[in-house]
Amino acid sequence: MILNHIKFVVYNLLTFTVLVYCHSRDYYDILNIPRTAKHNHIKSAFRKMAKQLHPDKNRDDPQATEKFSQLRNAYEVLSDDRLRKDYDRCGEKCVKKDSMANGHDPFASFFGDFGFQFDDSPAQKETPKGGTIVLELGVSLEELYNGNFVQITRNKPVIKPASGTRQCNCRQEMITKQLGPGRFQMMQQNVCDECPNIVMITEESMLEIEIEPGMRNGQETKFIAEGEPHIDGDPGDLVFKIKTFPHKIFERRGDDLYTNLTISLQDALVGFKTEIPHLDGRKIVIERDVITWPGAKIRKKGLGMPNYENNNMHGYLIITLDIQFPKNNLTEQDKEDLKKILSQSSVNKLYNGLDGY
Ligand SMILES: *[C@@H]1O[C@H](CO)[C@@H](O)[C@H](O)[C@H]1NC(C)=O
Ligand SMILES: *[C@@H]1O[C@H](CO)[C@@H](O)[C@H](O)[C@H]1NC(C)=O
Repeated sequence: MILNHIKFVVYNLLTFTVLVYCHSRDYYDILNIPRTAKHNHIKSAFRKMAKQLHPDKNRDDPQATEKFSQLRNAYEVLSDDRLRKDYDRCGEKCVKKDSMANGHDPFASFFGDFGFQFDDSPAQKETPKGGTIVLELGVSLEELYNGNFVQITRNKPVIKPASGTRQCNCRQEMITKQLGPGRFQMMQQNVCDECPNIVMITEESMLEIEIEPGMRNGQETKFIAEGEPHIDGDPGDLVFKIKTFPHKIFERRGDDLYTNLTISLQDALVGFKTEIPHLDGRKIVIERDVITWPGAKIRKKGLGMPNYENNNMHGYLIITLDIQFPKNNLTEQDKEDLKKILSQSSVNKLYNGLDGY
């Protein structure tokens, strides 16, 4: 009994220390994700936190750099399956940092699309800039509902030094020439600098774009400086524009999803239960035990698209019901039976379908 009690105390002390230890630097806490989070969830959480914690955005916080590098560190470990396993097994001390992607910066492709441009240094003086490339990125409604990461390999022309020199930074300048005593001539002349020579080399690079849940058709993700290069200046930007593929079942309007469901006349009269496969693979049960008329709408709250600004909010799922009538002919007996069951008097109302008349 006493022994048991002691064991209990020791055990409690242990959990307590472990908890305190973890609390200050647990990677899952830093990223604010559950321990079961899937790979894309981790990436997505990192991107969100990185936007908030980026030192460029938090210049008043002396700890900003420290916080950001903690975040980076947590992400580097948890986004690598092997390192994450080590970490889950026995924490930070087991993570062999040296085994990490040697020299390759996992953020190289990743930071582009943050579009960080907080640096308010006096507007870059007239540096020429290459053209902006806009590409359409076809995405499915499933991707816009669940979120996804899309990897794009591209062959990008980059500028490399070469031997020799070339003329550069050419501009028009006024020059003054003395033609003789007391005689000057001013004229415009094309003046260039001598710069080291360069060549354009095509390099393969990988870009990763996050399709964030709830993104809208036409929404843009910008990769700074990934566009057309400029020989005397900065490269332009690369912009991906979301283009939603049509979906077989759903149509999106704002954050609402629309679908049509055809049921039989029999189901319309006696009630029915069926399932609609949702965009995340869930089955949505549709059940009615009262009469359904053609064109009836069922509105399901919270089953529409996630709102882009607040993923916890969803639009409606609106199901319009349509009724398929039987095609086979009824016997005289069937007709009599139906009349008895429905006992509905004739309506025969004429109308023009315009409201108010
Ligand atoms: C539902 O049916 C209507 C009328 O036939 C059609 O205009 C609409 O596009 C359909 N909606 C979907 C999501 O297919
Ligand atoms: C139903 O009856 C009509 C007229 O008698 C006939 O033209 C039609 O082919 C029949 N339909 C079926 C499905 O038997």
